[in-house]
Amino acid sequence: SDALEGSNAKRGLWSSRFAFILAATGSAVGLGNIWKFPYVTGENGGGAFVLVYLLCIAIVGIPIMMAEVMIGRRGGRSPVNSIRLITERDRLNPAWKLVGAIGVLAGFLILSFYSVIGGWAISYVGTTASGQLAGQSAEAVGAIFSGLLSNPSTLMLWHTVFMVLVMIVVARGVRSGLERAVSILMPALFVLLLMVVGYAMTTGHFGQAAAFLFQPDFSKLTTSGVLVALGHAFFTLSLGMAVMMAYGSYLPKKISIAKTSITVSVIDTGVALLAGLAIFPIVFANGLEPGAGPGLIFQTLPLAFGQMPMGTLFGTLFFVLLIFAAWTSGISLLEPIVEWLEEQKGMNRTISTIAAGGVCWALGIASVLSLNLWADVAPLGFIPMLEGKTIFDLLDFFTANILLPLGGLLVALFAGWVMSRQAMENELSLSPTMFNLWFIIVRFVTPVAVAIVFIYNLM
Ligand code: PHE
Ligand code: NA
Repeated sequence: SDALEGSNAKRGLWSSRFAFILAATGSAVGLGNIWKFPYVTGENGGGAFVLVYLLCIAIVGIPIMMAEVMIGRRGGRSPVNSIRLITERDRLNPAWKLVGAIGVLAGFLILSFYSVIGGWAISYVGTTASGQLAGQSAEAVGAIFSGLLSNPSTLMLWHTVFMVLVMIVVARGVRSGLERAVSILMPALFVLLLMVVGYAMTTGHFGQAAAFLFQPDFSKLTTSGVLVALGHAFFTLSLGMAVMMAYGSYLPKKISIAKTSITVSVIDTGVALLAGLAIFPIVFANGLEPGAGPGLIFQTLPLAFGQMPMGTLFGTLFFVLLIFAAWTSGISLLEPIVEWLEEQKGMNRTISTIAAGGVCWALGIASVLSLNLWADVAPLGFIPMLEGKTIFDLLDFFTANILLPLGGLLVALFAGWVMSRQAMENELSLSPTMFNLWFIIVRFVTPVAVAIVFIYNLM
């Protein structure tokens, strides 16, 4: 354990609660909020889905985030080593390191398609800045988007650019500048979203959109919708793959884990809801289909920027900020893999980054082709629930709805049944009532909820 001591000595701590919140928010707020939330909400019928999603954030997401941050801080190392250290110190089963392995696998798979969508956002900077969108009809905007999807080489180009952006930061291992940028650029993204909401109010369909989002119609909720809501809660909060555990290991002891976890979750949820309020009025005003799928924001936001005053400027700025949000999330997806390669395989940081980034990049080719040449290839189509899903759809589905909830389940079981209660009380320093509430949730509620949702969907 000399190596452990050594690596610990090198680890600095976040300078403040704010620094941790910036880093964690950088990971959490990304394409999940602005790209994925609106489209899965549209596909799953709106209000009832949103309600289940919000419940999942509150009842499952926040307690799991607290557990991850707590385990990370208690271990004070990378996720795999934190868990190993806790299990060694308390003489527990070392198999819990599996949580770290899930994180590495999920990181590979998610980043491979996340980067392709990040590439769409990069491509839209050019589309918007060139003024092509000004005053366009829904049909024309839809055609621009289909044009992008039908072109594998353009998609590859932007996927490559996104991946390289992520790799540069991870390879250099310095993120302090980036975290400071989060404190300016995230609020800017928020303001631009508010502006689109402002525009959306002028479409005359704002009420309809608000009703769609917030008036639950349970007849539209399916069991698979519940699974998607649960999975998205994990995805959007960056949970279930030990990212928050890694970040928690840098959190100074005196800072409240509960308060910081709640802050990050509230910001993340706020951005998602705002994105929904920005997009659905445009959907209804233009007679578009709420269930249009992954292209939804690229078929709606350009309409808003094409109509609003100075839309070319604000639209360009919006996509730049979206890239930044996706970038900070992408970094947090690659980081655990690189750390794992460094620690387990003894590779240096640059080589690890090139190896891991290269594999993600290559895997991304499958997602790129899913959008055009392989659009009709549904490898697991014989399973009713996965009918018609392309490789890209499957990667998204498998990671968000299976892998991350599974990782979260392990975290909940580890905290709820394995770790020393005394240690957890010390780390969380909550009032006895609040501690018990949290403990009951991770011990019973989360495992049972995840198990029920899994079992229902298998049947
Ligand atoms: N939370 C990020 C988003 O919403 C995606 C992500 C998932 C990042 C898992 C890291 C880990 O865009
Ligand atoms: Na998110």
